[in-house]
Amino acid sequence: MNDQSHGWRRLFVRKSVEDLQRNAASHGLRRSLGPLNLVTLGIGCILGAGIYVMPGNAAAHFAGPAVILSFIFSGTACAFTALCYAELASTMPVSGSSYSYCYATMGEACAWGLGWLLLFDYGLAAALLAVGFSSYLVSLAHSLGAAIPASVATPFVQAASDGSGLVTTGGVNLVAALAIAAVTIVLVLGVSLSAKVNNILVFIKIAVLIAVVAVGIGAVDPHNWTPFVPANEGGFTYGWPGIMRGASILFFAYIGFETVSTAAAEARNPQKDMPIGIVGSLAVCTILYIVVAAVMTGIVPYRELGVADPIAVTVDRMGHPGFAVLVKLGALVGLSSVLLVNAYGQSRISFAMSSDGLLPPLFGRLHQLYQTPYLGTILFGAISAVGAALLPLSLLGDLTSLGAGLAFSVVCIGVMWLRSTRPELARPFRVPLGGVHIGKVWIGTVPVAGVVLCWTMVAPVAIDIVSQARSGHYVPATILGLYALAGLLFYFGYSRQHSHLNPLALSASR
Ligand code: ALA
Repeated sequence: MNDQSHGWRRLFVRKSVEDLQRNAASHGLRRSLGPLNLVTLGIGCILGAGIYVMPGNAAAHFAGPAVILSFIFSGTACAFTALCYAELASTMPVSGSSYSYCYATMGEACAWGLGWLLLFDYGLAAALLAVGFSSYLVSLAHSLGAAIPASVATPFVQAASDGSGLVTTGGVNLVAALAIAAVTIVLVLGVSLSAKVNNILVFIKIAVLIAVVAVGIGAVDPHNWTPFVPANEGGFTYGWPGIMRGASILFFAYIGFETVSTAAAEARNPQKDMPIGIVGSLAVCTILYIVVAAVMTGIVPYRELGVADPIAVTVDRMGHPGFAVLVKLGALVGLSSVLLVNAYGQSRISFAMSSDGLLPPLFGRLHQLYQTPYLGTILFGAISAVGAALLPLSLLGDLTSLGAGLAFSVVCIGVMWLRSTRPELARPFRVPLGGVHIGKVWIGTVPVAGVVLCWTMVAPVAIDIVSQARSGHYVPATILGLYALAGLLFYFGYSRQHSHLNPLALSASR
């Protein structure tokens, strides 16, 4: 530790994998999860705004009916990444997910950066889910003959209809902010989804989507699928660039699969069941996404789908008002369950970072009565609520996908890093398809494919953000820049000194 405790070497100080393994073993988690439990766990965390909200924007502005291909591309990138998660999770069965893996592989600075990125990502995802929730609530109220005023369900800024950046709307999305407030209260009270409740929610979510397909198929007009790949209109508007841009947006639809990998310590037979759980949940979701997107674009001309509630718009055109109400209710259930899981994930990452000394102790302080990390949960809930009230869906989606793609690629690199530096470790699950050694460095087929695909997915978003900034629309670039700057200042101003791996911090606390 001494050599690593000074100067730049401190950036790479690592937690010991053996300590993580010992801690996990002493927690005594029972190996009780079989393949089916793992698949439903994954679907519970994955199915949400990715199908209820995001395909509308992706089809209307970028991919057209070929949004189906966008779903396939981003699902494939996530499948490779998911296998990498599974290997790290089976080697280090700890909470904190990729943040903890990174701390034990690439070291503190990288783990800190990843944790900071994940907090951003989870916060934006919560805001996005809440914006979707508010749109479906407005639509449901409309179906029931009531009206929620647009001024309390519209973000403060919105994309201009001529594509010339963002404009203010005069509204504030209070409904979305209140949805986050409600979930925050539930989390502070310590309510989490039991396996049984998760199974019921998964059943409802799948049943609603299958019903949309079954009822909607008769209303499909195949003309709406032609041309399947609309001709490119410049930039990422349609054509193959649009399909890739759509894929980068729909990356969001698969976030949540990593939860399956964090259950590696509780899997009965990790080597066999983890890939089934991960690939199985991704496969079920991909198939559902494809068929629902096909029905959606078959009923509603793709240019009319640029809304936050595309499935509501689709069912409204099927001509069965009672069915439309049921579907909107199902969408609200689906969106709120993912919102809950997402906010839970964020509070546990800040908890893990605080336990390591990288965030102030308030994020780790437990409520006396409910035993939950309430202060961190409330603070992050408040920030997400502000984001949900002010920011438009397109911006939230872009920033979330960018963050997720970067975080996923770090996990893929982490697999190769750990195989190269600690080849002898026991790995109950190993990524398939092998790899090559170049000296001591192991280059794996699956991790390399994961990195390349993740970067391919995020590249269109990054290019778009840069080109927007060059044409004078600075909001997305400014948010990213300020967050990165705040992160650097925080790491060097606080986290480095207070890290529990910093010998000076340890001796000061003795
Ligand atoms: N994949 C999750 C969703 O689509 C985050 O809502």
